[in-house]
Amino acid sequence: MGKESKSKGCLGWFLVIVILALVVGAVVYAIKQKMDHSDDDKAAPVPGPPGAIDKKYADALKIAMQFFDVQKSGKLVDNKISWRGDSGLKDGSEAKLDLSKGMYDAGDHMKFGFPLAFTATVLSWAILEYGDQMEAVNQLEPAQESLKWITDYLINAHPSENVLYIQVGDPEADHKCWDRPEDMTEKRPLTMVNTSVPGTEVAAETAAAMASASLVFKTADSTYSSTLLKHAKQLFTFADNHRGSYSENIPEVATYYNSTGYGDELLWAASWLYHATGDQSYLRYVTGKNGEEFAEWGSPTWFSWDNPNPNVAIGALLGGPFLNETYIDSRNNSMQAEPTTYNGAIIVGLLSSLVTTSSAVKSFT
Ligand SMILES: *[C@@H]1O[C@H](CO)[C@@H](O)[C@H](O)[C@H]1NC(C)=O
Ligand SMILES: *[C@@H]1O[C@H](CO)[C@@H](O)[C@H](O)[C@H]1NC(C)=O
Ligand SMILES: *[C@@H]1O[C@H](CO)[C@@H](O)[C@H](O)[C@H]1NC(C)=O
Ligand SMILES: *[C@@H]1O[C@H](CO)[C@@H](O)[C@H](O)[C@H]1NC(C)=O
Repeated sequence: MGKESKSKGCLGWFLVIVILALVVGAVVYAIKQKMDHSDDDKAAPVPGPPGAIDKKYADALKIAMQFFDVQKSGKLVDNKISWRGDSGLKDGSEAKLDLSKGMYDAGDHMKFGFPLAFTATVLSWAILEYGDQMEAVNQLEPAQESLKWITDYLINAHPSENVLYIQVGDPEADHKCWDRPEDMTEKRPLTMVNTSVPGTEVAAETAAAMASASLVFKTADSTYSSTLLKHAKQLFTFADNHRGSYSENIPEVATYYNSTGYGDELLWAASWLYHATGDQSYLRYVTGKNGEEFAEWGSPTWFSWDNPNPNVAIGALLGGPFLNETYIDSRNNSMQAEPTTYNGAIIVGLLSSLVTTSSAVKSFT
């Protein structure tokens, strides 16, 4: 009896323990489910590794990426384009600077700092957002190399805090030439902005390029990343403290890359600096008075070097989804249709998102 009652007691306790364990387990499970769920509410689901490769997009991405190799100036390294060679080796020499790298804008031999900086920012963004998809089709390294080819140039173009060289070459003379950059004999005059002749949009766009690129190189090359960030912060301060439109101050540039205002570039630069540093003052800059003044909510145009509104991308290179899209299919619509570094960078970003079946992206914030 005693034995039986003891074993009954044991069984009772065992049942109690099992039930308790089940209850505790159920509660833990419920809490975990709830927490997982509330995480879902906060952030988008993290995608798995890239899925199956879509060959047609992978091929298109490779060709779009190759365009950057075609546009490279300077002493080429590991050049894969058989018909390209070294060029622009003395660019910058009149100011004792090495501005040989960077990229030619389009079919010309001009280095236009404003759209070139936009190119670097968008390429950085594409890498940050879709780097794993690029990697899946062996395009991550070419993308990083092309980006660095531009940022190496931008670093040299910013020799002191309040001086930024924004152009190499004389566009009027250049656009009359029909020669290869390898053979060009035109003069290569330099144009700068400084405290007496400021250029807020070009300095801020360059700050955005440097800040976003600093994120790209953060783990692979932390020294280079810090250098970029230092330049980005200085350029943003220069842009913000010495406000003035570069195309008003230097009217010659308006024929090529006229600016419609610098407010959007200030916000774009501050946003990238916030991403790169986590410094709340940049966030306050964007969300406070400047945001209200500059954001032009409700009147976006298209995502371009002059107006980086990330919600709108229009152009012949991708075509819009509606019959009444604002893209004008005309030979003279060079802003939206011309093969250029800055249009190419947008295409690279869009194609990178399509090369694998995993299109959901993990935010890099
Ligand atoms: C400042 O920039 C302007 C415009 O490019 C240039 O004419 C001027 O010489 C520059 N000033 C200095 C001190 O370099
Ligand atoms: C440049 O843009 C400004 C502001 O939008 C405009 O007033 C000016 O006429 C433009 N200049 C050229 C040459 O397009
Ligand atoms: C353009 O097309 C969209 C979608 O089909 C439509 O909502 C919009 O009203 C159209 N706009 C114009 C100006 O026709
Ligand atoms: C471009 O060409 C179209 C016709 O295709 C014409 O309507 C338009 O005025 C032209 N624009 C410029 C800036 O030459």
